[in-house]
Amino acid sequence: MAARKLLVDIHTHVYLPRYASVLRSRSSVPLIRTDASTQEERLLILDHEPSGGRPVGPQYWDREEKLKFMDKHGIHVSVVSSANPWLDFLPASQAHTLASELNTDLEEYCSTSPLLASNDTQLKRLYGFGLLPLVPSISTTALLEIVNQISSLPHLKGLIMGTKGIGKGLDDPALDPVWGAIEKAGLVVFLHPHYGVDASAYGELDNGHVLPLALGFPFETTIAATRLILSGVFDRFPNLRLLLAHSGGALPALSSRLASCIDHDPVVASRLKHDARFYLGKLYLDAVAYGPEELGFVSDTIARAARYEKGSSISIQEQLDRSIGSKRMLFGTDHPFFPPLSATEKWRSVVENLEAIDAVQGWSDVNKEGVRGGNAMELLNLSN
Ligand code: URA
Ligand code: ZN
Repeated sequence: MAARKLLVDIHTHVYLPRYASVLRSRSSVPLIRTDASTQEERLLILDHEPSGGRPVGPQYWDREEKLKFMDKHGIHVSVVSSANPWLDFLPASQAHTLASELNTDLEEYCSTSPLLASNDTQLKRLYGFGLLPLVPSISTTALLEIVNQISSLPHLKGLIMGTKGIGKGLDDPALDPVWGAIEKAGLVVFLHPHYGVDASAYGELDNGHVLPLALGFPFETTIAATRLILSGVFDRFPNLRLLLAHSGGALPALSSRLASCIDHDPVVASRLKHDARFYLGKLYLDAVAYGPEELGFVSDTIARAARYEKGSSISIQEQLDRSIGSKRMLFGTDHPFFPPLSATEKWRSVVENLEAIDAVQGWSDVNKEGVRGGNAMELLNLSN
């Protein structure tokens, strides 16, 4: 029987009830507070949180709301991850315990979700990306223990990670055993931003969340992924599977400039086995870019990577075949963030991303099906 064409959302978040309780118990950011006059809960997660934070409600923690959202948008399967800032603000022992508990909670959230309605599949509606206690002073043993835990939980297919590592960023050599264990376990790392860039870069005009989310987030991902590349992580762990949020931020657009800067720096050039553009072909990128031109361009930079494999004899035609790049791009929504501001049937943030996938020049119908769901099924080893 032919596999069904599935819509799979790989970028969708939850604040699990246990985590939301921790945020409610806090008096410094990150926290959830109740507005005394409206009784509305608000989420404050950024240091310079604009506009008194964001209103939050059941969309952020209630599984039924996630399923309703999926039904409304025709999403068959979601791979749910904890939302930022994860465990970054906790002391090591609390982060360790909470990571373990939240991974168990997420496994239960997924394992008790409904089966996809079909009598020929065991596929559930929900899978997850677990959490590591990546905080300063955590021991390598504790991190490896949690990698093991995640790989033993059948509905967790990888883990979500911010950009801080254990305090020194993701190019910290102390993380090598963790990359090794993740690679060995075949888990996918979903790299997601939280901190943006220095808030002084946003100026004084009240632009709400626009600059931190539109620019700060993707620049943070750009820098973190670039530092990983520069540290040689992909040379040491060639089978590591890294999925970048928001289509890799500015990395695709800056990758030739990056390669040129490396070429002019003998220290870095001698550290790396390949041209910087080669490493883009090792990445997976979500398709949360909101425009067909951006998706097409990003897929070009992935396809082009093959040209930078040493000894490659790939033809010009193939180098420019963006359909090759489409195979590493995966649909996402960023739910429950970016809700519609007024009542609409469907969320614009979702519809725009679906329309963008549909309109990419040079992607075949098969490529588009891949981006909508087939690529996620393959990457996460979900069988239909
Ligand atoms: N805002 C956030 O804080 N996180 C997201 O993932 C998206 C928007
Ligand atoms: Zn997100």
